[in-house]
Amino acid sequence: MKILTIETTCDETAAAVVTDQLEVLASVVASQEDLHRRYGGVVPELASRAHVERILPVIHETLQRAGVRGQDLAAVAVATTPGLAGSLLVGLSAAKALALGWGVPLVAVNHLHAHIYACRLAAGEEVFPCVGLIASGGHTSLYRCHTALDFDLLGGTIDDAAGEAFDKVANLLGLGFPGGPAIERAARDGDPAGFDLPRPLLKDNTTLDFSFSGLKTAVRYRVAPPGEPSPFEQAKHQQTPGQQLKDIASWPRQRVADLAAAFQTAVVDCLVGKTMLALDRTGLTTLCIGGGVAANTLLRERLTQAALERQVRLVIPPLRLCTDNAVMGAIALERLKAGFVDRLDIDILPGLVRR
Ligand code: KG4
Ligand code: ZN
Repeated sequence: MKILTIETTCDETAAAVVTDQLEVLASVVASQEDLHRRYGGVVPELASRAHVERILPVIHETLQRAGVRGQDLAAVAVATTPGLAGSLLVGLSAAKALALGWGVPLVAVNHLHAHIYACRLAAGEEVFPCVGLIASGGHTSLYRCHTALDFDLLGGTIDDAAGEAFDKVANLLGLGFPGGPAIERAARDGDPAGFDLPRPLLKDNTTLDFSFSGLKTAVRYRVAPPGEPSPFEQAKHQQTPGQQLKDIASWPRQRVADLAAAFQTAVVDCLVGKTMLALDRTGLTTLCIGGGVAANTLLRERLTQAALERQVRLVIPPLRLCTDNAVMGAIALERLKAGFVDRLDIDILPGLVRR
């Protein structure tokens, strides 16, 4: 049994063909990073237009590489929630049309559950039940995952996602887009103790929620007092992104590195702290993580250390399965095997459903 999976929740147009043995026959990801770089973040309208241009070539190439015809597929799976409305619509419309044309069932995928399923694929063996942490540009959520089909949301961000905070802070510091890798690079030479930054909600043991917008603002105020434009914001009008750092004499490189390191450490403290609280509360002994921020070296090191101390099995997928991809849509096979298929009139659900 083979399925085609489609992923267009944010700014990656992706498709894959996966077998019921979880063998990946083909996987194609068309990134839009270059398109959004100049804006320092994903522009939804541009993202959906780019999906429209790329979706059919990406699917065509995926099927060709896999050597399968649409009619031979057991299903077409597509991520329908959560994500950017325009982006989700492109993927779902394509999936519906192909499913109808080929006469095969349609299976909807929850993008966040799929991020956790990437750990099942990476491990090559069962990972459920587990605690799942997803930290990406759009989401920061903690799940109790009973099975591949049964997830309880334990907590999530009440404002910005962790990756979004990385992107905005990198922009503020003139470090470029995407912000996560840029902050990580700058932080390598920095002293995290050089700035004192808040860890919102970390000490509140009654909640598994996250909050990153106050931390983002705190960084902004370290750069310049409220009301005053930061040197980086002033410079933006005169210089191209990426050149700002070396051109700004008022902020020595070391100071920027210290602030990047302090910010990165604060985010990681929050992510690790709440994840450990989730493990304590659930008593589960497997931890699965996913999303672009899971690529962060400090986060990986700290979680590896914490998992070791608690004798918890930690599953971190390789980078290509952490960032958005269609392979993780293989979670649809679990739904298909359990007898679930979706109707052709299903809709997208852009917001996060608290379940
Ligand atoms: O999962 P993903 O590829 O797309 C979304 O669904 O959002 O995640 C992208 C996010 C971006 O915000 C990016 O800055 C962040 O992941 N990211 C990182 C790192 N690499 C990517 N954040 C921290 N450290 C990294 N090394
Ligand atoms: Zn994602």
